[in-house]
Amino acid sequence: MKVAIVGASGAVGQEFLNVLGASALPIEELRLFGSQRSAGRRYTFRGATVGPVRVLGDDPRAFDGLDFAFVSAGGDVSKQYASLITSGGALMIDNSSAFRMDEDVPLVVPEVNGADALDAPRRIIANPNCTTIQMVVALAPINRLSVIRRVHVATYQAASGAGAMGMEELRTQTAAIVEGRKPEAKKFVTTLAYNLIPHIDVFCDNGYTREEMKMHSETKKIMHAPSLEVSATCVRVPVERAHSEAIWVETERPISVAEAREAFASAPGVVLVDRAEALGYPMPKDAAGTDPVYVGRIRADLANPNGLSFWAVADQIRKGAALNAVQIAEYIVAHRR
Ligand SMILES: NC(=O)c1ccc[n+]([C@@H]2O[C@H](COP(=O)([O-])OP(=O)(O)OC[C@H]3O[C@@H](n4cnc5c(N)ncnc54)[C@H](OP(=O)(O)O)[C@@H]3O)[C@@H](O)[C@H]2O)c1
Repeated sequence: MKVAIVGASGAVGQEFLNVLGASALPIEELRLFGSQRSAGRRYTFRGATVGPVRVLGDDPRAFDGLDFAFVSAGGDVSKQYASLITSGGALMIDNSSAFRMDEDVPLVVPEVNGADALDAPRRIIANPNCTTIQMVVALAPINRLSVIRRVHVATYQAASGAGAMGMEELRTQTAAIVEGRKPEAKKFVTTLAYNLIPHIDVFCDNGYTREEMKMHSETKKIMHAPSLEVSATCVRVPVERAHSEAIWVETERPISVAEAREAFASAPGVVLVDRAEALGYPMPKDAAGTDPVYVGRIRADLANPNGLSFWAVADQIRKGAALNAVQIAEYIVAHRR
């Protein structure tokens, strides 16, 4: 199998090297792409040196003969280069929001709607937004017990969701504050260290941010549930890696806590951590660098007889990006006729 990583130097691109390295996919050739900034760099993959990073767009035949291209270089780059990337027959698995809501582009989380990946007429498959991926993995087992009518979610999103520079900015801001210097904000709208910012991506006309609207519309598409209502509040928090979410669902019939626990315990991609005691719940520091969506703090919603409340944590660079994309490729390899 021959594959490419576009955006290899980035937070997600680097995780692609790790996740693909550990996967069972028989990769005989790996081509790396980026901008001038990282051109020429080499990385380690399965114990060997790979590269150099090539400048995307320099060679019109650069994607010939590839099976998969894992693309994480931002929406504008995806839009500009999609036809080049797919022109030689490769399936483009795209981490940006460029094509997610296009009708002829499947939006896939293998634990929920893997089969959608088998019908990609434009040879593009979209990886959902990181917050949406971890939420739908946790919603799916509840939805199988009783159809979910409504979801309210508040997110606690790590700095690395804003890429390698986001992670770096949290570190430098924290150091500046500790040392009594004025922190600088470039990637975030203001100081994230020792703060929370209830603003991710740009504001829309309805007062929600685009990040919140992604959760609203992508969840419906992935779950094939146009009437499912989703209302989100997305917040950036000074955590380096792994997003957390407080989720409230309303189902058609009441689901007991015991039923929900059993469903989560056997759900693909979910690890249940739910003891009402100190440390008996998922936290980002424990989820960072791991694959599952951890679910805990499961309670009956005191404000809604058909409501259930829980807490979900996952490493958004792995399950929210690179891992989910590689799982899509693995699903296609295992199921294609
Ligand atoms: N971070 C997350 O948790 C996360 C989760 C899900 C999805 N995503 C999505 O994944 C994408 C990348 O995110 P990231 O966090 O990895 O960002 P990042 O750390 O800032 O990395 C961006 C990557 O894009 C490359 N790039 C930028 N402009 C380019 C161009 N004109 N041509 C070729 N390559 C170019 C950069 O290469 P150079 O270094 O050479 O410029 C770099 O490798 C974004 O669409 C983001 O929304 C991120």
